[in-house]
Formats: sequence, structure tokens, C-alpha cells
Amino acid sequence: MNTSLFSEIELAPADPILGLTEAYNKDPNPAKVNLGVGVYQDETGKVPLLDVVRECALKWVQMETTKGYLPIDGIPAYTKGIQSLLFGDDSEVISEGRAVTIQALGGTGGLKVGADFIRKFFHQSEVWISDPSWENHRALFESAGFKVNSYPYYDASSHGLNFSHMIKALNSLPNDSVVVLHACCHNPTGVDPTEEQWEVIADLFAHSSRKLIPFIDFAYQGFSQGTEQDAYSVRLFAKKGIPCLIANSFSKSFSLYRERVGGLTILTSSAEESRNVLSQLKRVVRTNYSNPSSHGAQVVAMILGDPALRARWETELAGMRERIRKMRKLFVQGLKEAGVKGDFGFITNQNGMFSFTGLSSDQVDKLRDEYSIYMVRSSRICVAAMNEKNVGYICNAIAATMK
Ligand code: LMR
Repeated sequence: MNTSLFSEIELAPADPILGLTEAYNKDPNPAKVNLGVGVYQDETGKVPLLDVVRECALKWVQMETTKGYLPIDGIPAYTKGIQSLLFGDDSEVISEGRAVTIQALGGTGGLKVGADFIRKFFHQSEVWISDPSWENHRALFESAGFKVNSYPYYDASSHGLNFSHMIKALNSLPNDSVVVLHACCHNPTGVDPTEEQWEVIADLFAHSSRKLIPFIDFAYQGFSQGTEQDAYSVRLFAKKGIPCLIANSFSKSFSLYRERVGGLTILTSSAEESRNVLSQLKRVVRTNYSNPSSHGAQVVAMILGDPALRARWETELAGMRERIRKMRKLFVQGLKEAGVKGDFGFITNQNGMFSFTGLSSDQVDKLRDEYSIYMVRSSRICVAAMNEKNVGYICNAIAATMK
């Protein structure tokens, strides 16, 4: 009898976030709601194609003259656009050549290229992620070969930041620790440090003798207050000259999820350092996927490079941001009307797409099994998937589940 090469391979568990979408897609219940994945949906439940994106995508298809390879580090106009959004056009890190940016396959691709890069040069380092953090952070850094630990972040009793414990933990990390921070719209809690708290965090990195390595995940620029305000933490690190890595994503802000548009930026101390770092990043990219894909990034570059198009994009982005804010209010109001006890007002203070509801994993399972409402087991809900039609159903289901 032939034994298959693969007979010993066991079934892997479904992905904690994207696995929910797979289950949701198979669910025949017409009332089903996917509050799992962090994807913005409009009031009709559709993932929108932004008007300015559609227009520029068509224009690009007509303008394109070749399908030759892109450079390993991506389209120059695109990486320039990333730097301008991250740091502002007049930033010294740009004019002094202290920022290196490569195009990456979404924010996740930026994280992975960054993780592989650090692993190569700081092989003793361990990684520290917030407790809790995006479900994929741990798995991603582990797959790059790191031991992954966590630092205190969320305080369930106040629904806020456990700042003193966070700082205490960061102050006692071993040399060369990689610390993963969320620039804004913390995933999954929606709880961000204040500007004053960011000052303390940045100073901790600036003055530490332990050479900590900040790795900032910036997937939701524009979903909290606006593109400029949301860059506060990143610009603070730049202003203080703190070497760090920044993975950014345009999946959400341009609603270009499947085009995999993101980047990795590294802040260095000099143009010469930047040149060396870039050469090594290109090695990492070349040995992973050779070079990036074109279409989505060309569209983003076109929009970011033209002030009028960029203004139209900012307006559409603001529309998404404001609709989420409105849904937060309707959600809190709906929970109250459905008779849910307790004060859920904290949901209106959280930033970005997510709300961390505090439901137990049993309640999360019950909502999925009995109501076809899908959410991450940590109790994270994507408020950006709610609309005026489904919010009542969701609130009533939560009320029934909490009885
Ligand atoms: C999320 O957290 O749901 C998003 O960032 C999508 C993803 O890739 O997990």
C-alpha cells in the first residue's frame, strides 16, 4: 500500500479572523451578520469601491503601457506617497533621507518583511505585543522565528488603557526587545494612548539604554480623527529621531483590501544607514516574493500625488469614519433599548472599526450558533459592518444571549 507523503499532516485550525468569513459565507441564514473581519461596509452592507478609486483605476488601465516587473522595493511615487502620509510633506526625516520605504503586500506584508529583516540582524531579540493584540501578530512574529511575549495594555474594568502597567513592563524589557505598538485605532480594543501618553512612550524608547526596537503597526490611518491627527504617534517618533519600523496599510483607508496595498518604512539615523537598510530589505523581498504587484499601488500613487484627487479621497474617507461613529451611537442606544444591563457608553469612546464588548467566549459562540452573528472570540466586534438595518437584530441577539 502506498503511504502518502502528507499522511502525517494534521488539520490546522481555521484562522481566528478570516476563518470566520469562511464560516459566514457558508451560513444559509439570510439574517447573518459578519462582525468578525475588520472590513468597512457601507449602509447597504457592501464593501464600497470609492468613487475616486474607481475613476483612477479605469484611468490607469488606459494609461498603462507595459506589464514588466516593478522594482523590488516598489513604485517610487507610491513609496513617496506613503512617506508623505506618514510624516507630512515637510518632514525632516524625508528631506534628510532618514526614512526608507518599500511597497508591501498589505500591512501584513509590511509586518512580515520587517519581522524577517529584524530576525536576520537581531537574532537574540524577542517580540512583545500588547495584551490583547491583533490575532495575527503573535502568529506572524512566531512564523518569523521569534519568541512572542505580551505587555499589559487593556484594563477591562475601566475599558481603558492600563498605562502605568504598560510603562512599567516596557521599562523592564531585555535589550533589543521588539515592541509592537499600534499607531491608532488599537486592534482589537479601540483604546489608544492620549498625546501625553505617547510622549511618555516615545521618551521611553528615546532614552532607553536597552536599544528597544519599536515596530509600529499603522493599519487604520484616517479612521480615528483624520489622516493628519492619526499620524501623531508616528510623527512624534520621527521628530524625536527614534529609529523604528512602521508597517502601514491602505486596505481600509482606500477600501482596496484585495489589492494588497501597504508598505514598510524604517526610520534610520542617516542617509547612509538608509541605503544599507534598503539594500537588505530588498534581499528579504527578493527571497520571499521577488517584487510587488502593480495595479492597486498605481491607483494609490495617482491619488496621493494629485492634491485634488487626494482631497476627494480624504472626503470619502471621512464619510466612512463618520458613519462608523454614528453606528457606535446607534449600537449603544440599541443595546439599551433591548434591555441590556450595564453602561456600554465606552463603545462611543473607542477609536476605529472595532469595539471590544467584553462578551464571554460562550456568548460569542451562542451568537454565532443561534443568530448567525459572527465575531472574534476575544469579543471584538467590527462596528464598521453594522448598519441601520442590522443593528436592531444584533442588539436584540446580544440582549437574549446575555440573559
Ligand atoms: C482584522 O483585524 O480583522 C483585519 O486587520 C483583517 C485581518 O487581516 O485580520
